[in-house]
Amino acid sequence: MAFDDLREFVAHLEKHGQLRRVRARVSRDLEIAEITDRVSKGRSEGNQALLFEQVDGFDVPVLINAFGSPERMAAALGVEHLHDLSARVAKLLDLRMPGSLFDKLRKLGDLFDVAKAGPKRVRSAPCQEVIETDQPSLARLPILRCWPGDAGRYITLPLVFTRDPVTGARNVGMYRLQVHDDRTLGMHWQTHKGSAEHERVAQEQGKPMEVAIALGGDPVSIYSGSAPLPPGIDEMVFAGWLRGAGVPMVACKTIDLEVPAEAEIVLEGFVDPAERRLEGPFGDHTGYYSLARDYPVFHLKAITRRKQPIYPTTIVGRPPQEDYWLGKATERIFLPIIRLLLPEVVDMNMPAEGIFHNLVIVSIKKRYPGQARKVMHALWGLGLMMLAKNIVVVSEHVDVHNLSEVAWRATGNIDPSRDLLIVDGPADDLDHASVRHRFGGKLGVDATEKSDMDGIGQSWPEEIVMSEEIRALVTRRWQEYGL
Ligand SMILES: Cc1cc2nc3c(=O)[nH]c(=O)nc-3n(C[C@H](O)[C@H](O)[C@H](O)COP(=O)(O)O)c2cc1C
Repeated sequence: MAFDDLREFVAHLEKHGQLRRVRARVSRDLEIAEITDRVSKGRSEGNQALLFEQVDGFDVPVLINAFGSPERMAAALGVEHLHDLSARVAKLLDLRMPGSLFDKLRKLGDLFDVAKAGPKRVRSAPCQEVIETDQPSLARLPILRCWPGDAGRYITLPLVFTRDPVTGARNVGMYRLQVHDDRTLGMHWQTHKGSAEHERVAQEQGKPMEVAIALGGDPVSIYSGSAPLPPGIDEMVFAGWLRGAGVPMVACKTIDLEVPAEAEIVLEGFVDPAERRLEGPFGDHTGYYSLARDYPVFHLKAITRRKQPIYPTTIVGRPPQEDYWLGKATERIFLPIIRLLLPEVVDMNMPAEGIFHNLVIVSIKKRYPGQARKVMHALWGLGLMMLAKNIVVVSEHVDVHNLSEVAWRATGNIDPSRDLLIVDGPADDLDHASVRHRFGGKLGVDATEKSDMDGIGQSWPEEIVMSEEIRALVTRRWQEYGL
């Protein structure tokens, strides 16, 4: 089921016992963050989306943790389980000549889904029920302060819209935005990201760049801002395909950009590439404060919004938190694309502890010497996978989602003098341990089983597995043992 907007999603979550309304008066300064951190790390039954209805000093409710579980993330994207996403993408990528008439019709259906995915331009929009162009101010929004050492308040779940000043190609990214004052924001688009590239083009042209920031909208569009799509793929077309209907988009009031019509709040403005201001520190998903550095500045020209908007947000910090589930959806969506390019890949897992890029576990069907290394190098050359710090490659039969099994294999199946590959390359902006900012070492661990093809100096032993016959016997007699 595709939701039209955030309210429909909220209603769905509430109906299915996945949302709690908090009516107690709370402060946006640290209190909401601490409540959310406890809820997202607590018992899974208590891990629900939270709608804070009475935020001190504001009449705008705050929605948080809406994507913070596998069930809610799947519901947001209109599937029952997150792994269904892999199946959908794999079906689309299956370009073998269809055999039967039924197959041909099914393929036509898949292509039709793509054809109707384009954004739909609309003239009037809920996100423009109220238009504030005279003295617009961020002060009316309940923007959170997340951690005690943060440099200020941060918008954390935005869709940032920019266009390439030369080609006009759209980018949508989810980047944290620091409130410098009531009219300016620090734009933390990291150097490897789409809008940073647009800003570099604007800088070459010596011109300011228009920027729109949408808060809320349908949940698929919100997710799409966090998806690491290549520059040639429009996030809004991708969102339309994923939700099975084009995203309604409306022209902004003061700038030449479009935003999702169903958003709750839209900030219109511009960034001057010649301007930089200190942004951060900010308690980020590494579990540490990212250091203060110079970043671009957004100048607010207008706020458009619904009459009674909901303010969607999230907090990031030591994992697991809500952003882990947004990343899990990305992992499942991108797996079939990686498998198309690297057919030996069976499965992959980016566990919460690895905050996406710090740890990528991948299982492969190994057929020739050096294949695990080939996969590591290929991943390091693939889009934002370039930022992967540690890649552990295991054999096809290993369950990459079972961290206990992976730790067992990854320590027992390696000789460090043979199976570790250390290279260097681009590092994540937030990596506090890399040798220097944005550049550092990477470790590949070949934890596959070895055989003669790997040139080993002793025979590889057989793994201990009980015989099928005895397993069946014990299963059959289990009740008799009184255990
Ligand atoms: C909650 C959340 C916050 C994020 N904050 C940032 C951020 O501050 N800066 C950044 O560059 N990427 C951030 N990301 C990751 C980007 O959204 C992601 O890399 C996305 O692919 C960027 O889009 P782009 O490739 O079109 O630039 C965040 C992701 C999530 C889920």
